Amino acid sequence: MCGIVGYLGVKESLPIILNGLKRLEYRGYDSAGVAVFNGSNIASCKSKGKISKLEKSLNKRKNLNGNIGIGHTRWATHGAPNNINAHPQFSNSNKICLVHNGIIENYSTIKQKLLKEGFSFKSETDTEVLVNLIEYVKIKENVKLGEAVQMALNQAIGAYAIAAIDSDKPDEIVVAKLGSPLCIGIGNNEYYIGSDVTPFIEFTKDVVYLKDGELAIIRSHKETIFRKISDDSLVSPTINKLEISLDKIEKQGFDHYMLKEIFEQPKAIKDTLRGRLNLSKGLIKLSGMDDFINKFLTTNKITIIACGTSWHSALIAEYMFEKIAKISVEVEYASEFRYRDPIINKNDIIIAISQSGETADTLAAIKLAKSKGAYIYGVCNVVGSSIARESNSGSYTHAGPEIGVASTKAFTTQMIILYLMAVKLSRAKGIISEKIFHKYLIEISSIDKKVLKTLALNNSIKKIAKKFKSSKNCLYLGRGYNFPIALEGALKLKEISYIHAEGYPAAEMKHGPIALIDKDMPTIVIATNKINYDKIVSNIQEIKSRKGKIIAIVSEGDIEVKKIADFVIEVPDSIESITPFITVIPLQLLSYHIAVMLDRDVDQPRNLAKSVTVE
Ligand code: M6R
Repeated sequence: MCGIVGYLGVKESLPIILNGLKRLEYRGYDSAGVAVFNGSNIASCKSKGKISKLEKSLNKRKNLNGNIGIGHTRWATHGAPNNINAHPQFSNSNKICLVHNGIIENYSTIKQKLLKEGFSFKSETDTEVLVNLIEYVKIKENVKLGEAVQMALNQAIGAYAIAAIDSDKPDEIVVAKLGSPLCIGIGNNEYYIGSDVTPFIEFTKDVVYLKDGELAIIRSHKETIFRKISDDSLVSPTINKLEISLDKIEKQGFDHYMLKEIFEQPKAIKDTLRGRLNLSKGLIKLSGMDDFINKFLTTNKITIIACGTSWHSALIAEYMFEKIAKISVEVEYASEFRYRDPIINKNDIIIAISQSGETADTLAAIKLAKSKGAYIYGVCNVVGSSIARESNSGSYTHAGPEIGVASTKAFTTQMIILYLMAVKLSRAKGIISEKIFHKYLIEISSIDKKVLKTLALNNSIKKIAKKFKSSKNCLYLGRGYNFPIALEGALKLKEISYIHAEGYPAAEMKHGPIALIDKDMPTIVIATNKINYDKIVSNIQEIKSRKGKIIAIVSEGDIEVKKIADFVIEVPDSIESITPFITVIPLQLLSYHIAVMLDRDVDQPRNLAKSVTVE
């Protein structure tokens, strides 16, 4: 995901573009850039990192004054996040300048053709290829920017939202869209462009949402031309009136980023699975693993290292790898691993899990393991992050930017990757038959729908939250695959509501924590298990007989737990190994609602940061 912004009008464009980029930072924040036509040429400024860094670089610049400009905030897909790969990208003549959100799938074929025509490239981006294709067409066909963009896009395959300016035509911005979002705000002799409406909401309420396959030539003091990309037919745009406040739009109608991200999980799961699961061919494609599968089959030892929520997904992976693939796995806190002089051999594999890819403890741990010859497999969300770069190979989770400090969608998508790895290895080792392999694929392919169904329980979970919001302590219990979910539920409650909470394996309760049980101590029990179901029922009885209150998460059709629990959250049934994807959802929602009822700063809880880059 990237964010694009543009302005054409009577005001200074740079402050409007910068402000717009800040609003779109949620879409990506690994690098950013702006370009402004300053009366003689297009001047630009780019910077690796967040918009605040770009702003600092801009303080030293003087030639970016003008009434027409474009900007971009990037979440890297093609090429590492750095100044060269940041947008805007320029054509070889430096006349045409482009910002792009999306992926041009056939960029490499186009690049080869342009290389033969004498074009050269500085970046690794598909965007630089597209801007040069536009220039090539413009010169070859002797057309203006609008026609050149249209002709170039007719050769491109993929998804895009683009905005282009040309110093030969300094009173125009050409925008086009296919797949990625783009809207145009219409003011009084001025036009605003954004990936969403947040960059211009304070300037105009009139907005045109460009449709897929449409292009617009926005001209100073003239009417905008809207037409189809595939032919020259004109399109009459619908002007919508915005009624929503800025705050709501940034969070897409959700009160907090955390809630938005909880509800984004079905989509995030689908994005993580995209291109990796081929049901008809019976295939799991993980490019970071496919070429090194023998390493995984012959390794001495797999150790998974991570921190916080990512450590919980590592614990679930331990169950997945051992139960499904019969591969022994150790799970370590990154911060402990490096200081206990771990025994690491050349034939070892380290799987490092990190949403941000920047967690200092995890980064230091993998550097240590690498120095001792281990193979590092990174499971990261942020493309081009330090851990991703330090890894020998790996898989991105593709959950999209996670802004809420409490990790939610990153967690579920990490589990997706780890599940795919375990099932793939199991088949490669011949542990499971083709038929069972297929069953695992079928189950994971429909998990997004089960998560969606679980999210529909939001209102009833909110009612339960109301009953327990004044608790001082909470106990979370689970077994097997759901023991790490108990830990994760407790962490979510702690970090955003500041209520003390502990997660335990259900059977461990009788070895100490049961002493805490009284009428004021609620226990959240994950009781979806098929294995050990009777034992969990006994654990619940033990708590009830000490006057403890029970909130139970059960599978649809449950009979026994329902009879004894005080509150029941009934979730879709599934095979044991994928229950964590479902059972974590009510726990995320429960902690979210409790935190909101306690008036906590849900997205930025005290003392925490999204990415912990210090030891
Ligand atoms: O970016 P990482 O996944 O490496 O971050 C690890 C932890 O800092 C992170 O999971 C933290 O525990 C979250 N705030 C939990 O919600």
